[in-house]
Amino acid sequence: MPGHFITFEGGEGAGKSTQIARLKTFLETNGKSVIVTREPGGSPGAEKIRSLLLSGEAKDLGPRGEAMLFAAARADHVDALIKPALERGDWVLCDRYADSTRVYQGEAGVDQEYLKLLETAAVAGLRPELTILIDVPPAIGLSRVAKRSQTDNSGGPDRFEDEAVAVHERRRKLFLQLALEEAYRFTIVDGSRDQDFVEKAVQTAVREAFSQDLGGTNETVPATQVSR
Ligand code: TYD
Repeated sequence: MPGHFITFEGGEGAGKSTQIARLKTFLETNGKSVIVTREPGGSPGAEKIRSLLLSGEAKDLGPRGEAMLFAAARADHVDALIKPALERGDWVLCDRYADSTRVYQGEAGVDQEYLKLLETAAVAGLRPELTILIDVPPAIGLSRVAKRSQTDNSGGPDRFEDEAVAVHERRRKLFLQLALEEAYRFTIVDGSRDQDFVEKAVQTAVREAFSQDLGGTNETVPATQVSR
């Protein structure tokens, strides 16, 4: 497909949305057409499923049922938004994708073989070319989330944020393990560093992965210039 598909993964409070916004600016500065989206959600059908999942209304289904809902949302998102955008030649930056199901629902006890089947059905062959894992110790990530909920009146943690620290630690390990297993598409960035540092690391990864598309314009653009 003519477009490019980049996903961002990480635990709570990793700073994905800030970095996605900065990467969007960088790519646009380089003349690219960029779509920013997120999971669960990103398309009208999937956004309905998102509210069921994040409110905790679907919790009674158990982790396997929740995994099915994440997959259903993903299937709609792929068909309605991601595929058409890539066919048009856009760059799609997605906040979480199938790796989040492997990690979150995997950690919650859903069998990996079962998750693989769901993933195959949901993504319909559409896999990210680059996945940026923003790795942050849960103590740091969770304190950022706590600060954010105080300032934006978002009403406290959602269904998946509101778990014991040990759960967040296990998710972090699973993300790191996955990044090592599929190193060909993953870049791990240290999310405990300041946002400008992370921004530069993300840009480096993107330039390396897509040097053919970004060639010639990159080396002289300092990260701080494109972020403002
Ligand atoms: P969101 O508010 O988008 O959180 P974040 O800013 O951390 O990305 O909420 C998404 C939540 O859903 C998040 O806690 C991770 C969880 N999740 C899963 O458990 N499985 C999935 O497949 C996806 C996409 C998200």
